[in-house]
Amino acid sequence: MPSPSTTRRALANLGSGARRFFELAATPLLPADYLDLINPMRAGADLRGRVVDVAHETPTSTSVTIRPGRGWRGHRPGQYTRIGVDVNGVRHWRAYSITSPTGDVITISARAIEGGVVSNHLLTGLQPGTMLMLDQATGDFTMSTPPPRSALFITGGSGITPVMGILRSHLHELRDVAVVHSAPDPEQMMFRSELQHLHRTGRIRLTTRFTRTEGILPLEGIGAVVPDWQERETWACGPTGLLDDAEAVWAAADIPHLLHTERFRPRVVATGEGGEVTFRGRGAAGAATATGAAGGAVRSAGSAGGRAQSATTTGATDAGLTVDAPAGIPLLDVGEAAGVLMPSGCRMGICFNCVLPLEEGSVRDLRTGELTTVDPEDPHLIQTCISAAAGPCRIAV
Ligand code: FES
Repeated sequence: MPSPSTTRRALANLGSGARRFFELAATPLLPADYLDLINPMRAGADLRGRVVDVAHETPTSTSVTIRPGRGWRGHRPGQYTRIGVDVNGVRHWRAYSITSPTGDVITISARAIEGGVVSNHLLTGLQPGTMLMLDQATGDFTMSTPPPRSALFITGGSGITPVMGILRSHLHELRDVAVVHSAPDPEQMMFRSELQHLHRTGRIRLTTRFTRTEGILPLEGIGAVVPDWQERETWACGPTGLLDDAEAVWAAADIPHLLHTERFRPRVVATGEGGEVTFRGRGAAGAATATGAAGGAVRSAGSAGGRAQSATTTGATDAGLTVDAPAGIPLLDVGEAAGVLMPSGCRMGICFNCVLPLEEGSVRDLRTGELTTVDPEDPHLIQTCISAAAGPCRIAV
């Protein structure tokens, strides 16, 4: 078998006629697709990575170590990357924080969420050697330059993941580090032994809060565990409530500039009114026949009153699937819960990978409350991850 570089050179040296012949012979694939088969991590290919290790952090969370292909431009600690992983023949994209220091390989860490297709696949189905699609690292939840004299990290649940990336890379530059971390219980605390080791050896001052028995730590009382919190540059990552509280407390103390936050989900300032959403097109053709996790009752478009009837049974690929979408639930979640093939990425309004045409009806932007209403003559692209139904509407998938 020729080497990838030999094949690439041969392709480059072909005359235009010969290249056209090769392309026709290769159809429906392109010559580049064959190069991908030979070496999927070659320079110039879509960015991929090979899984080199899968390790459980807790019974419900996992760390996946990946060797990125040639196009990887590296990351800054605290950033996240998106991975594209095939589960049951369907490619799903998700964003995860990078928890490893900078280097030739990266580690992403994830907690499996109930009904989460990808997070559960990472936990139980992913094997070393698997090829994943990758995006370049992004995000600005990173260490300041120069590093502060004293730092405070406030985290909840998997919010520890970007902070772990920062600690593993920057701890040697930081003289005084306090970490306040909340987890449901000790068994579900990610990186517990490593954090406790850093505490025992005096590298960090760790305060843990196990919410199942101790309740949520009210940040108004943060001074009880970190008396000089107002003098520390602070990074916070975790559930929406924790971050909302942090922003309120730091603002009340007139030091919002000392607080950095990282959200895994957008802040919801308004909800939609809910309503019937019809997903129309190929993406809905194989939709599941169940009541969705988001609470929406699923039925075929045009079969008023019918329940749990597969969109596939409507026959044509353009058939629709209608879901009762609750107020406040992003249409991305509603569609996925109904089994619709929804494009997605960051799930928080940043990457625009979830954009689909709103063909008719009204949706509300959960971050701003802005209402978008369209009629069939004037469809409008919307981000389904931050849009909720505000009455009946129809989405093309
Ligand atoms: S999934 Fe990234 S903007 Fe919606």
